Amino acid sequence: MKPAKSNKFYDRISNFYYFIEPFFKSQNNLLIDKVNSLPKGKLLEIGIGNGKTLEFYKNHKITGIDTSMAMLNKAKMYLRCYEHIELICMNGENLLFKDDRFDYVILPHVIAVVDNPNLLLSEVYRVLKPGGTLIILNHFTPNNFIKYIDRIFNPIAKLLHFQSIFYESELTALSKFKKIDNISCDVFGYFKLLLFLKL
Ligand SMILES: C[S@@+](CC[C@H](N)C(=O)[O-])C[C@H]1O[C@@H](n2cnc3c(N)ncnc32)[C@H](O)[C@@H]1O
Repeated sequence: MKPAKSNKFYDRISNFYYFIEPFFKSQNNLLIDKVNSLPKGKLLEIGIGNGKTLEFYKNHKITGIDTSMAMLNKAKMYLRCYEHIELICMNGENLLFKDDRFDYVILPHVIAVVDNPNLLLSEVYRVLKPGGTLIILNHFTPNNFIKYIDRIFNPIAKLLHFQSIFYESELTALSKFKKIDNISCDVFGYFKLLLFLKL
């Protein structure tokens, strides 16, 4: 597997990731509600991390992938309780799945972490079935005072292996998809849940 640049970082922080989770909790709850409202199908979650979402997914057969083995090892505890889950160490930018395999692909807080977001999205397009749904949960730099915070924070964000300045317009590979929903997760329009269809 081609390692991601963030690999060592996530391997190192896997024991502390539980402290970061509360910052994502309310947005992840929106994501889980959205996923559970979708008809049954094969779901791929890229950047599954420590697998916190796994216990909440009700309807789908789940494949979770991550490049950090230490994060995946945390997620593996859910394998004992749920039969509909498989976990694989794999790079989202080089998916080892055949074309048109999944009904859903979920990207929670990973698209601003991967080395090449457009390569990731091209791979997602390839493995999604026609009519399949892509769900992205991420921060996007809004056109308000938060853009200045994003700029100030950017050097620190680089050390933490994510891009704080992040625009949807730079995700050119999304042009292959049709956007079907755009849900703001907070009053500042910072975190968004975006839904796309592969036509
Ligand atoms: C910010 S964490 C998000 C974890 C989880 N999705 C959540 O919402 O709490 C980003 C995760 O993406 C993983 N990751 C980074 N680059 C990746 C890649 N190219 N392919 C798959 N996973 C990747 C990291 O190892 C890490 O576990």
